[in-house]
Amino acid sequence: MAPLVAPLDCMGAASAESRRPTVAVVSQVALRRATVDDARAVARLMAIAGEGIPMWLWSRAAKNGQDPLFVGTERAARSEANFSYRNAVLAERAGQTVGMMLGYRLEAPTPREIAGLDDLPELLRPFAELEFEVPGSFYVNALAVFDSYRDSGIGTRLLQAAAGRASALGCPRLALMVFSQNIGAVRLYERNGYRTIAARPVPAHPCHPYDDRVLLMARTL
Ligand SMILES: CC(C)(COP(=O)(O)OP(=O)(O)OC[C@H]1O[C@@H](n2cnc3c(N)ncnc32)[C@H](O)[C@@H]1OP(=O)(O)O)[C@@H](O)C(=O)NCCC(=O)NCCS
Repeated sequence: MAPLVAPLDCMGAASAESRRPTVAVVSQVALRRATVDDARAVARLMAIAGEGIPMWLWSRAAKNGQDPLFVGTERAARSEANFSYRNAVLAERAGQTVGMMLGYRLEAPTPREIAGLDDLPELLRPFAELEFEVPGSFYVNALAVFDSYRDSGIGTRLLQAAAGRASALGCPRLALMVFSQNIGAVRLYERNGYRTIAARPVPAHPCHPYDDRVLLMARTL
């Protein structure tokens, strides 16, 4: 999954009226693989998808008043990591990025990774434990659409793109994580065939508003 933060929405404040979906919007949206030049957009959308956690992680790594988003952008620009522009599909409208799906094939955890669970910050542990349950799956790590473009089918198209990537990579299953209290996202995933297969309590933390469970949802291809 990824849990974070509305103030990063680049589209700015929009009235309820202007935020209503139009059929036209999704028909004007094109999907493409991200390039390294998209690293900042990838980081911004990861921050939204992560609902607090990515910005918290990046702020821990930021040095001397550095903008956490700068740290996120540097990380998104790497080519070898899972959190990389290479694993992102962007939705664009009129040349502007409006949404993203970032996903990749999950490898089986190494003994070292399993042993390292205890060293992870408490907040991250449930996510790592759940990730270890679905090796070989295509893992949708982040799904986000800028606020002004929501509810017009872009998220659904990005989930379809995830299925396409899973197929291309030979993954028989897709998996993702979502806070149980993010009911809009849970509804979207259920509508797209995902079902809850495991869950963990969410550790309370100031970077996110949730106090229930994180769900591991999956669907076969
Ligand atoms: C979840 C999200 C990617 C959906 O994108 P979208 O383009 O609006 O999706 P679609 O138009 O295809 O589908 C609309 C559905 O998305 C869900 N949704 C809409 N707004 C949402 C929001 N603010 N937060 C969570 N889910 C939302 C609802 O299920 C909605 O269907 P509904 O009409 O039954 O309520 C987008 O709302 C978003 O970026 N939310 C914030 C980040 C987030 O929660 N990401 C998922 C973390 S696991």
